[in-house]
Amino acid sequence: MRPVRIAPSILAADFAKLGDEIVALGAAGADCIHVDVMDGHFVPNITIGASIVRALRPHTALPLDVHLMISPVDPFIPAFVEAGADIIIVHAEAGPHAHRTIELVRSLGVKAGIALNPATPATAVQPVLNMVDLVLVMSVNPGFGGQSFIASQLDKVRALRRAIDGTGRDIALEIDGGITAETAGPAITAGADVLVAGTASFAGGPEYYAANIAALRGAATQDTTGGGGTAGRGARLAE
Ligand code: DX5
Ligand code: ZN
Repeated sequence: MRPVRIAPSILAADFAKLGDEIVALGAAGADCIHVDVMDGHFVPNITIGASIVRALRPHTALPLDVHLMISPVDPFIPAFVEAGADIIIVHAEAGPHAHRTIELVRSLGVKAGIALNPATPATAVQPVLNMVDLVLVMSVNPGFGGQSFIASQLDKVRALRRAIDGTGRDIALEIDGGITAETAGPAITAGADVLVAGTASFAGGPEYYAANIAALRGAATQDTTGGGGTAGRGARLAE
């Protein structure tokens, strides 16, 4: 079985104590820190910019997984790389030139990821799959934490797992939105190997972070639901 990585989203953190929060997440067993950047245009919410990534960088050695929910995206990518991002995730829907955007990310010497909104088919990543280090399936419509998991996205995860395995490359398959101890198992069984979790990581405050992360990891490795049903199992990239 693939190792499961837990990526807490700081969207659910106490923003007045962000440095302390990511130190606590590291001590609690997080594998990377997921940073949600929103612009009030591509998504209906505004969060943070590159200056916050720069401020957080000295507080953790964990990879900073920067999820850019912004459009246009290209003009802002260099600033996030300079600020210390380890991986830049851009949305396939952020503009007409995802190939150019991914080339830009790679040219700056960091890992590149591509994210898909719930209404975007898995096939959208096929032409750039060999260029990326990570594919992110949104299991909520991006913009807010605390939303309910959209179970239909498990079919997309299954299709992408097959496509990724077909490349023979080491490409992470991340799922983001509504991940809880209940949804973690089906997501992993469907083929995801990185779980983004905001609300579920931060529930109860810092004294619970380790237990929360352990619960997600445990649920992910003990799924008995068969990945949320068998519909779409083995689906090809042809939807
Ligand atoms: C949603 C963000 C997610 C979000 C996850 O637009 O991309 O990373 O913070 O939050 P939860 O885990 O609460 O759904
Ligand atoms: Zn995110």
